[in-house]
Amino acid sequence: MPSALFSPIKLAGLTVPNRIVVSPMCQYSANDGVGNDWHMTHLGMLANSGAGLLVLEATHVERLGRITHGCLGLYSDDCEDALGHIVAHCRRNGTAKLGIQLAHAGRKASSQRPWQGAKALSATEDPWPTIAPSALPFGPGWHTPRAMTEDDMARVRAAFADAAKRAVRLSFDAIELHFAHGYLLHSFVSPLSNKRNDEFGGSLAGRMRFPLDVVRDVRAAVPRSTPLGARITGSDWLDGGLTGDDAVTLAKALKAAGLDYVDISSGNITYDSRPPNEPGFNVPIAEQVRRDSGLAVRTVGLIATAQQAEAIVAEGKADMIALARAFLDNPHWGWHAAAELGAEVVRPPQYARAAPALWPGAAMRGG
Ligand SMILES: Cc1cc2nc3c(=O)[nH]c(=O)nc-3n(C[C@H](O)[C@H](O)[C@H](O)COP(=O)(O)O)c2cc1C
Repeated sequence: MPSALFSPIKLAGLTVPNRIVVSPMCQYSANDGVGNDWHMTHLGMLANSGAGLLVLEATHVERLGRITHGCLGLYSDDCEDALGHIVAHCRRNGTAKLGIQLAHAGRKASSQRPWQGAKALSATEDPWPTIAPSALPFGPGWHTPRAMTEDDMARVRAAFADAAKRAVRLSFDAIELHFAHGYLLHSFVSPLSNKRNDEFGGSLAGRMRFPLDVVRDVRAAVPRSTPLGARITGSDWLDGGLTGDDAVTLAKALKAAGLDYVDISSGNITYDSRPPNEPGFNVPIAEQVRRDSGLAVRTVGLIATAQQAEAIVAEGKADMIALARAFLDNPHWGWHAAAELGAEVVRPPQYARAAPALWPGAAMRGG
């Protein structure tokens, strides 16, 4: 039986050669939103990982929407120029299709890098004002955001559309919007963070209104042949929070707004909203969303082995598998998965001598 994981998938006008995706991963290493040598090295390596699609980290659409001082942005010509060099490098030397995740951190902005504490920036660390649907902090000790005015909404919508235009100019193969992990768009959708009593709050339809406005603006800026997706929340994992049923409703609305796929992630709407630490913890929700929405679905979360990823796709629970930490651990995860599943993957000729057919050592290390 040919591997399901290594079968191609078509998203809008793009054919991705296999179902393996490098999940977006913030590197907290940019200078005022501008990528540098670290991104060149990190992404250049992961473009040669065997994954069909490499999605760049949360890339923020306005300066105030960055999570940390080190987060990548796409809000200035400097950001765009630097990213252009990185994309060109990945294309010259790598095999993966390239996607980008566009994001706004909302009330989780103005925080420390993980290795500096991952808390709100203190007064001596050059903090900045944050915005959110409601003036509620992410948790104790976090900044209290300003509840967004209609002017803020208009500015953020324009920022998403502008960043999408820059991403199109940079010829990304796919663009996705960050609707998860407690950042701005998720915080509008979740009833735990959106307590507005205007037309942008209340029912799920009201809470989705601003994020869907963003989606329509972005869709209008992105050619129909370029896949546009969203990483959404399968569950807030808290009483009164978002559930799999809400994810289905959102996925249907995103489909109607012209999106081509969703990625099911979960958790982090508040400081104490944590997903269960179990293998494939988002898979049952992905399966539900795939079945009930009819959209192509990717999922993520404690998927670490080739057999696990293969089974999820082969059993029709998801169309694509994203992995984050497994690729940090082993940047050639896709090569090893191909060997294990008897599939082919393109390696650069410089590394061909380590392919299983040419190197007996591959069998000695088990795959
Ligand atoms: C270093 C690191 C940075 C991350 N940054 C992002 C990000 O920019 N955008 C995002 O949606 N998820 C981000 N995540 C979450 C991952 O994409 C992924 O959903 C999560 O790690 C679970 O998958 P895993 O078990 O394969 O690691 C990050 C995870 C890690 C480990």
